[in-house]
Amino acid sequence: MKRTLLVLGGGIVGLSCAYEALKQGWRAIVVDRGEIGGQASGAAAGMLAPFYESGEGPDAFFRLCLDSFDRYPAWTAEIEEAAGMSAGFVRSGSLHVALLEADTLSLHGRLAWQTRHCAGLEWLDGTDLPRVEPSLPSGLAGALYCPDEAHVQAPLLVKALATACARLGAQLLPHAGEMTAVSQSEAGGLSVRFEACGTIGADALCCCLGAWSGRLSDWLGLRIPVHPIRGQICAYDPAPVSLRHIVFGPQAYWVGKPDGLLVCGASEDEAGFDRTVTAGGIGRLVRAGGRLFPTLSGAAPAQSWAGLRPATLDGWPLIGPVPGRPGVYIAAGHYRNGILLSPATSAAFGRWLAAGGGAGGDGADRAFRPDRFGAYVAGEREGATTA
Ligand code: GLY
Repeated sequence: MKRTLLVLGGGIVGLSCAYEALKQGWRAIVVDRGEIGGQASGAAAGMLAPFYESGEGPDAFFRLCLDSFDRYPAWTAEIEEAAGMSAGFVRSGSLHVALLEADTLSLHGRLAWQTRHCAGLEWLDGTDLPRVEPSLPSGLAGALYCPDEAHVQAPLLVKALATACARLGAQLLPHAGEMTAVSQSEAGGLSVRFEACGTIGADALCCCLGAWSGRLSDWLGLRIPVHPIRGQICAYDPAPVSLRHIVFGPQAYWVGKPDGLLVCGASEDEAGFDRTVTAGGIGRLVRAGGRLFPTLSGAAPAQSWAGLRPATLDGWPLIGPVPGRPGVYIAAGHYRNGILLSPATSAAFGRWLAAGGGAGGDGADRAFRPDRFGAYVAGEREGATTA
């Protein structure tokens, strides 16, 4: 008899964890309140940028990002093969541009410590930039050039993962409605009831609810301070500029996709669970584009959309077994890096599953332990009250 893993949340993190379990011979059921990949994963620009997304030094988060990034080429190739479709992985390299001299200081700081982790990381003077990225004007202060950084087409990767999971026998249950009850028997059996698809029993539970993760804090007995940060994003079609690299500017980033779209992201606003796109949010992205690329000035995006990033209090994800709840795991709160961090997150999950649990929380990197914010206090339900 195969054991059953129930995954709550059909975003990229949930699907990757299901994929790991399926490869280990588990049965997997992935349940989502809405569409599979219908939230942040499907809205993401798909940047794989561990150097751009890092903090002040090589901390645990940077190491996790780098580990995940290193796994990416083989991981996507495997999923593409299993699904029979492309996920649009492109190792384009990136340029983090400084418009003014004052913006160069922090980039030189990054160059100083990241150079040990990225061969070919280098500073380019403003005069060199149009040679490397012809769409950029001369007269900029310079840019940090990272030859390694890459991007994928996030909606395609999610589709490929869902297809790969389905081909391995996973049951994908979109539109399951609200989760109305969760329980665990003395023997460890798990049972979750959903409004639209009834009760599902499982031997293990992986909670990948993104911005909605706080909903389980009561049952898990843990504080799960995850709140939504809206990212508004737009795309030009056809692209008025053809970019060789991902370009990060002070107020936005731009990435050219293999299907011809130029994607520009992203705002960071607190709007609860509202995924509406605002004229102000998209207008700021459009103006930032006009300032950096002469040919983008006056161009109007063809599409705009928004996703809700799951941000934790310290900005780092929650990854690991839940102490005191055998067979229950959290993989959530990946904030700006759910796409990048899925290979490392699911690999860690796969290791716990193969080792038969880690119910005491053992084995999880302390920095990402899901219980690091302490115990749930009755009545507290941070960041997840509505939607
Ligand atoms: N990873 C890019 C963003 O969150 O906008």
